[in-house]
Amino acid sequence: MTRIDPSSRDSFGTKFGVIAATAGSAIGLGNIWRFPYVAGENGGGAFLLIYLIFVIAIGIPVMMSEFVIGRSAQLNPVGAFKKLAPGKPWFLIGIMGVVAAFMILAFYAAVAGWTLEYIYQSVVNGFKGKSPQELGVMFDTFREGSVRPVIWFLVFMGMTAYIVSAGVKDGIEKYAKILMPILLFLLFILCIRAVTFKGAGAGLSFLFKPDFSIFANFRDATGTILEALGQAFFSLSIGMGTLITYGSYINKKDNLATTAVTVSLADTLIAVLAGVAIFPVVFAFGIDAAEGEDLVYKTLPIIFQQMTGGYIFSLMFFVLLGLAALTSTISVLEVVTAYFVEELGMVRKKATLIATLSISVLGFFTAASWGWFTNISLSGKNVFGILDFTSANILLPLGGLLIVAFIGWYFGRERVNTELSSEGNLKTRYVSVYMFIVKFIAPIAIALVFLNGFGIFKFS
Ligand code: PHE
Repeated sequence: MTRIDPSSRDSFGTKFGVIAATAGSAIGLGNIWRFPYVAGENGGGAFLLIYLIFVIAIGIPVMMSEFVIGRSAQLNPVGAFKKLAPGKPWFLIGIMGVVAAFMILAFYAAVAGWTLEYIYQSVVNGFKGKSPQELGVMFDTFREGSVRPVIWFLVFMGMTAYIVSAGVKDGIEKYAKILMPILLFLLFILCIRAVTFKGAGAGLSFLFKPDFSIFANFRDATGTILEALGQAFFSLSIGMGTLITYGSYINKKDNLATTAVTVSLADTLIAVLAGVAIFPVVFAFGIDAAEGEDLVYKTLPIIFQQMTGGYIFSLMFFVLLGLAALTSTISVLEVVTAYFVEELGMVRKKATLIATLSISVLGFFTAASWGWFTNISLSGKNVFGILDFTSANILLPLGGLLIVAFIGWYFGRERVNTELSSEGNLKTRYVSVYMFIVKFIAPIAIALVFLNGFGIFKFS
């Protein structure tokens, strides 16, 4: 096995670069596209509440654990576990992460491709004069057509591959830094327009007033808890080694705990803002909150149409959404690439190319899930739905469970302390709480959510 010399590895230049790149990975379609659609399918407020609890109690500790593993090993997820636990099967967590990365990119880049179509539609003023219903039909027609979704998917994969092959510093950091704050600002303006629609209040109550009656219906609540856990993992980019890989590029002096907390809070803020922009419109215009993956693409154009400067807004918004998606897709492709380079001894360009081509084969089926391949389905889910559900709700939480178990039960408090305190330079009074969470709370909670989700164990 060829290993590259660790001293020649790239690393993030500045402290802000670390936060920007990690936030760039975390913030993306997961917040603006996936959060509203999954929240909408799972009753809104109750989902949001469970989601927040999971982010704080499980998400942040898992993120810190990934950073600890990555920075202490200075390697990709597979290599990291091999180095930290030689001769032990822990490296399988890394392999599972590479598999998850394949699956996620294959559907994520398809959704990113929808964004490219909507940039195009914004340019040609394609939303103009259409009723909310016609806007819905427009999206369905596009997606069922298959040719355009596949082409846009490939374009997006190409862009991702280009940046990843250029390496960490020049690629990821440069793009991530400037764009996220602008996106946040635009989202804020959209929220303001959205809440001033007549009938917007119902949307806000849907999102912020938990309706616990879903727990009376056991089947619904079961799904909701698992979906909330999956969404937390997906949105924070945790459970598959993305942040082990990024952690390996973090400077030894940087504070891992504050980075994890800052990124998680920013990520959550963006998701909630996306909800505030979407649900008032959903209720004001009689769209079904449980519409599914198309919810956001059918809702946003309605806002743009009904605001001053909508043309330019819509263009800017979709461009920035595309870029937010790009800073996420590069972090996913980076996992596979770093593995190919460091474990299989490929040069970076070749590794990127092979990863991109093989993911594109799977993505071809995903992007055309509603058209050419609409007949391929498993318990009511098409190819896209299968990849989305399995990766977010099963592979990521399972990866997270194993990651915290590794830190809590194998890696041990001493080595954790060294990393979290940056070799004794930072105060780490919270380490006992953190260790308690990774040893007991997080693994038990994730296991219970799984058992409950698969009907083996019942809450209530
Ligand atoms: N967190 C990203 C988003 O919210 C998606 C992602 C998932 C990225 C898993 C990396 C790993 O858009």
